[in-house]
Order: sequence, then C-alpha cells, then structure tokens
Amino acid sequence: RARITLPQLHTWHHAGRKLVMTTAYDAVTARIADAAGVDIVLVGDSVGNVCLGFENTLPVSMAMMNHHLEAVARTQPTAMLVADMPYLSFHLSVEDTLRNAGGFLQRGAQAVKLEGGAKRLPMIHALLDAEIPVMGHLGLTPQSVNPMGGFKVQGKQKGDALRLLEDAQKLQEAGCFSMVLEGIPADLAAKVTETVEIPTIGIGAGPHCSGQVLVFHDVLGLLPGTSPKFVRRYAEGFQDLRDALAAWAEDVREGGFPDGRESYTLPEAVRPVLTQ
Ligand code: KIV
Ligand code: NA
Repeated sequence: RARITLPQLHTWHHAGRKLVMTTAYDAVTARIADAAGVDIVLVGDSVGNVCLGFENTLPVSMAMMNHHLEAVARTQPTAMLVADMPYLSFHLSVEDTLRNAGGFLQRGAQAVKLEGGAKRLPMIHALLDAEIPVMGHLGLTPQSVNPMGGFKVQGKQKGDALRLLEDAQKLQEAGCFSMVLEGIPADLAAKVTETVEIPTIGIGAGPHCSGQVLVFHDVLGLLPGTSPKFVRRYAEGFQDLRDALAAWAEDVREGGFPDGRESYTLPEAVRPVLTQ
C-alpha cells in the first residue's frame, strides 16, 4: 500500500467510503493498527489515561506526545499519521502553537488534531497558514472535563446543539480537513455530517458519521473492567493476554519452560569442557 495522504482521504470520502481511525501510542500498537489496514492512526492524548495512568488527558505534555509520536512514526505506517495537540499546547500563543504543531510534523505526523470550536479559530488559521493540516474535534472534548463537569454526552440541549452545528461549519470554513465528533446524539452527528462536506469521524456519535474512531485498547478489550456504551470490543485482550502470560508463568514454575526447543546446545567439539 502507498502512504495515505490528505487528498486520498478526500477521494475516499467523496466516493462514499467510510473512514477508519484508531489510536496508536508506540511501535507495537502502530504496527498492529497499520497491518489491520486502518486509514488513519492517531497518536491521541488519550495516551495519558490509556497508557500513563492519569485520570484524564490534562497532564499530558508535548514531551510525552513527542516521545510516543516518535515511536509510532519510526514504524513508517501506511496509514495517515495524525498527532493530537495536548492541553495547553495550543492555548498560549500563536508562536507556541506553531512550534508545537510544526514539531509534530517534523517528527513524521501528516496533520494535527485539536479540540474546540469557534474560540480556537485564530490558532487554526495560523496552523493552516503554516501548511499544517488540522483535524477539528467537537462535542465531548475530554480536555474540557472541568467545565463539562465530567465525561457527559454533549449537544443535548437546543443551544448546545445549535452551537455545535455552527462550530462544525466554522471549522470547515477555516479549512480543517476533517473533524472528530465525540459523545453527541446520533441524530445531531448525522445533521453535522450532512451539513459539512469534510469527513466527520465519530466516536460515541452514532452510525451516520463519515467514519469512525475508537481507542485501540478499547476495540481490543485491553483495559480491565467494563467498556463505555459507545465501545464495541472485538477481542478480550486483557483476559486473553493475562491467561497466556499465566500459562507461561505456570510452565516456568513446573519446569515446563524452557525445554530443548527454546534452548541452545554447545557444539560437539566444545563439549569436553563440561567434563573437565
Ligand atoms: O485522544 C484520543 O484518543 C482521541 C480520539 C478518541 C478521537 O482524541
Ligand atoms: Na484526544
């Protein structure tokens, strides 16, 4: 497969093909995602809660994102590589925002994603002026956990729904190449998707988006406990991997691992040293 580019994504979108995005945080997850043939790999700031043990994404820094992006980029995926702007990396100044996003591109990302609507437009314009493609992100934006008062479905009130529709149009007018719609009613996501021309990528936003995204560890059931409503697990990764590892531990304790198949032998000519 040839490297997936922005024009390629738009060609597929206009041909009515659903776009598929998942996250990757290191070389292992990037290689699995790419081998599965997803269209877009996102180095999400969800790395904070999924991999680094934080309660939410707010503590994720540019240094952390760069560390994970570099690991993913070294695998040279065929999928389009998008890097997520973490909290405070696109809020302080245009210069700081450009340096952060430009640094992502220099590390191999083809585009950046950032959360928010109208109030992020000045930064989005500056990024696009600097040849940095931008993916928007509206609805349940996890970096807004404090003003939202938790991770709750957004756009359920008339004013919020209308604002979301307006924000989506503004992101498109600004020149975003796509947008994530997260945690909003399916019918609202459908309305946004038919209103804008650029592809909408849904998560917890129903079946009518132009594409779907799920966190890698969620699709594969790698996290312990029950999944949120919007997730469908395609593997029970946590249980399967735990059981496999426990089987190895038992073999070690019972002397069943390793055996001859996993061992090296001394060359015949050197064997006499054993009897000296
Ligand atoms: O960080 C992330 O994983 C995301 C996706 C869920 C869209 O922003
Ligand atoms: Na994110």
